[in-house]
Amino acid sequence: MESKIKVKDPELGPSRVDGRLKVTGAAKYSAEYSVKGVTYGVLVGSTIAKGSITSLDTRAAERAPGVLAVITYQNCPEIPGYHTPDQPAKGPLKIFLDNKIYFNGQPIALVVAETFERALYAASLVKAQYSKDGHQTDLKNNLPNGIAKGKDYVRGQEDAYKSAPVKVEQEYLLPTEVHNPMELHAIIARWDADDKLTIWDKTQGVKSTQRNIASAFKIPNDNVQVNAPFVGGAFGAALRTWPHEIAAVAAAKLVKRPVKLLLSRADMFTSVGYRPQTWQKIGIGATTDGKLVGITHEATGQTSVYEDFTEGVVNISQLMYASPNVNTKYKLVSLNVNTPTPMRGPGEATGAWALESALDELSYALNIDPIELRLRNHADTDPLSGKPYSSKFLKEAYQLGADRIGWSERRQQPGTLVKDGWLVGYGMGAGMFGAYRSNATVTARLQVDGTLVLQTAVTDIGPGTGTAMAAIGAEVMGVPVEKVKIFLGDSSLPPSPTQGGSQVTSTVGAAVYDACSELKAKFKALEGGATSNDYVQLLTANKLPQLEVTTVSKSGAEMGNYAAYSWSVHFIQVLVNPVTGVVRVNKAVSVADAGHIVSPKTAASQIKGGAIMGIGMALMEEALIDHRYGRLVNNNFGDYHVPVQADIPQVEALFVNKPDPYLNPMGAKGMGEIATIGVAPAVVNAIYNATGKRIRELPVTPDKLI
Ligand code: MOS
Repeated sequence: MESKIKVKDPELGPSRVDGRLKVTGAAKYSAEYSVKGVTYGVLVGSTIAKGSITSLDTRAAERAPGVLAVITYQNCPEIPGYHTPDQPAKGPLKIFLDNKIYFNGQPIALVVAETFERALYAASLVKAQYSKDGHQTDLKNNLPNGIAKGKDYVRGQEDAYKSAPVKVEQEYLLPTEVHNPMELHAIIARWDADDKLTIWDKTQGVKSTQRNIASAFKIPNDNVQVNAPFVGGAFGAALRTWPHEIAAVAAAKLVKRPVKLLLSRADMFTSVGYRPQTWQKIGIGATTDGKLVGITHEATGQTSVYEDFTEGVVNISQLMYASPNVNTKYKLVSLNVNTPTPMRGPGEATGAWALESALDELSYALNIDPIELRLRNHADTDPLSGKPYSSKFLKEAYQLGADRIGWSERRQQPGTLVKDGWLVGYGMGAGMFGAYRSNATVTARLQVDGTLVLQTAVTDIGPGTGTAMAAIGAEVMGVPVEKVKIFLGDSSLPPSPTQGGSQVTSTVGAAVYDACSELKAKFKALEGGATSNDYVQLLTANKLPQLEVTTVSKSGAEMGNYAAYSWSVHFIQVLVNPVTGVVRVNKAVSVADAGHIVSPKTAASQIKGGAIMGIGMALMEEALIDHRYGRLVNNNFGDYHVPVQADIPQVEALFVNKPDPYLNPMGAKGMGEIATIGVAPAVVNAIYNATGKRIRELPVTPDKLI
């Protein structure tokens, strides 16, 4: 089936509609707004990991120049949402509720002053005494304390891999990774009346933030105006409303002035979640001709003591391949750490690291090419539900990527390809993520000056949502993309979902499609509309300044008949220095089956960004705790490593670019998550191919290779 959308220049598509604003600095991020009378907040964190505050000395801070208030559990204004009946035993951290300490770095005070510098200085004067309890921050030591979460999954026979003629049974460890978007989390909170509030906030969802703040302060949703027109990356870290946001709103109430709270980079490690450290064990077995007999996948992730965070780590093993026998188990260990949160490809990225590594190990045990092994176990229908796929072009993706990376140069025997003194290796890993569509409302307006205005509340955290909206709107209406104006990131606009879960182009794009189709029909119905497509002329002839529709767009019921996923495969060529253990990623090719690509430039950028994130996951990222104190030791960009330009080769993004016939009118599927899922194992598999050394604990730093 054809997509109902055709992009004029399929190679490129439109440039970012907000690109100029971003590169010239004209785009304003939350902390950059000037609000009259604004004050500045700085958080003070606990220096113990478990216990309680026995005394808090805030006098010196309060007397410091320019200080307006030091907010602690002793004087924090009542947050009514903390005291609603039927509070669950576990839940989000209730900031400044009492003197209990659950993790090192937990906010114990918020200093508010006339300037940022004065607040920062006064924060250094806050002194706390604690009664310490013994803390636990080490996942590895606490694995026996894992508590089962959700139901164990069994398809066919449990642990069937054990009876297979060829089998692999291994453990894989992923350290904690922190989102660390470039833009720091920030909020400006201003009370406009006793029950009315405006905030400028870094958030992936203005509507969810509106609801969360309104329910915390028990005011009507419509009385909370949330602005987030630009978001400088988030990767999941801004999906929730965090304690520091509640604290800033409470502080603004106390000092009766607007409060700006910009987290420090160190705060970012303890205030806005992370991808949790996770232990996994995979047992996988096959017949000698490479047909999977069974997969057993167990995982234990860490969470905080006050809240459970679960993710679908083991789900990928239930879904990815046509194995008759699969069983999975998932557990959590509660530690004295802050709560994790979804980070790009939540669950699946972690699960794929283990599954795609184990499959690679199996391919060597069988002496079968890793792509060939995957083809022999390709699932033609969804193994979990038995339903047909709405679309699946993973085989095409394998082929495209293998051709582009030069897979034919790969040697099946590890450690045998050497170039200029470097060991050369090729590796691959696949990924998948659910393809979703939810509800969104879009207002589309064509003005007499020829401008097409599209409005919806959704935020654009960087993938190019606004650009995709413009591409779709321009195509449906038949106007140049330069004539499209996008308004988003504002809670007063028509409702849209939170940007997350790889569903926004599918959802909001479909709403743009529907709204523009309706607008077009409205023009057709005008006097003369049947014979003319010239909107400006029609408006003028009908003496109208503009024509506007607001359209609610929903997924069709037929989606229930299909299993819908996006698919990806990542190919990596590495060079490994046999003396120093240094790994250089020399070439990276990622291929996505993300349906029809509506905005090729931003889509390619999204895929490349995800691949770079996966390379960081494989080689660099690792948040380290000194367990003696339960405190992070590398909570800064000097010590927590992420890839920089010099670490990254030319990353190529390729698309199968075939429409999904059912998900939405554009035929587009999501790609935010699959961009990262499967990359890290591809790197590790390439390192094995280069060196014959199998690393099962990320990141693969040089010391692990020599
Ligand atoms: Mo994403 S982890 O759905 O923001």
